[in-house]
Amino acid sequence: MARKRVAILISGRGSNMAALIEAARGKDYPAEIVLVVSNRPDAQGLAVAETQDVATAVVDQASFPTREAFEAALQAKLAAAKVEIVCLAGFLRRLTASFVERWRGKMLNIHPSLLPAFKGLDTHARALAAGAKSHGCTVHFVVPEIDSGPIVLQAEVPVQNGDDVEKLAARVLAEEHRIYPAALKLLAEDRLRIEGERVIVAGTAKAKD
Ligand code: GRF
Repeated sequence: MARKRVAILISGRGSNMAALIEAARGKDYPAEIVLVVSNRPDAQGLAVAETQDVATAVVDQASFPTREAFEAALQAKLAAAKVEIVCLAGFLRRLTASFVERWRGKMLNIHPSLLPAFKGLDTHARALAAGAKSHGCTVHFVVPEIDSGPIVLQAEVPVQNGDDVEKLAARVLAEEHRIYPAALKLLAEDRLRIEGERVIVAGTAKAKD
């Protein structure tokens, strides 16, 4: 089966992007990263992608008058690269419902909490402040509502007594780098079926990784 053509959208550091690029180097991995797009020209991840010989593009949100104009330029880049799957990886720009609709069932996001808990920003600090014993990360399909959408994979990270934001974030990030490539693999293999809010993974009876 031909490998699926994937674009990764970033805004910053790009460590999840790097994990996806590395996974896609695997001989039997069912997807290839054909493009990394940043909405900010100064995203650190752009240089990382370049050192990995992955094509990059900047669609600078500051140079477009409207969200629609920005997304039209973004869509043009994706179409030119014949992209089939989009992975948001630290992409800090809300997408319009019509863009999300265009990529329904083909666009993933990673979020640093066990959704539906702690949507939005500062998830680690909020989990600590709430006294959560269990934290983690989620890969989900993107829907118009932020940090919502059918869940593909989650990894739980227990909160430890001595945790601060940095320590907890580092352990969650390690899990992000594990589950994002695993989730993309499932999508690229056409093994995911969305039923309402749930994602059914073909070939497994479990609801959990
Ligand atoms: C990650 O924690 C991701 O879950 C969240 O933003 C952060 C991006 O980090 N959406 P990186 O750019 O992948 O290093």
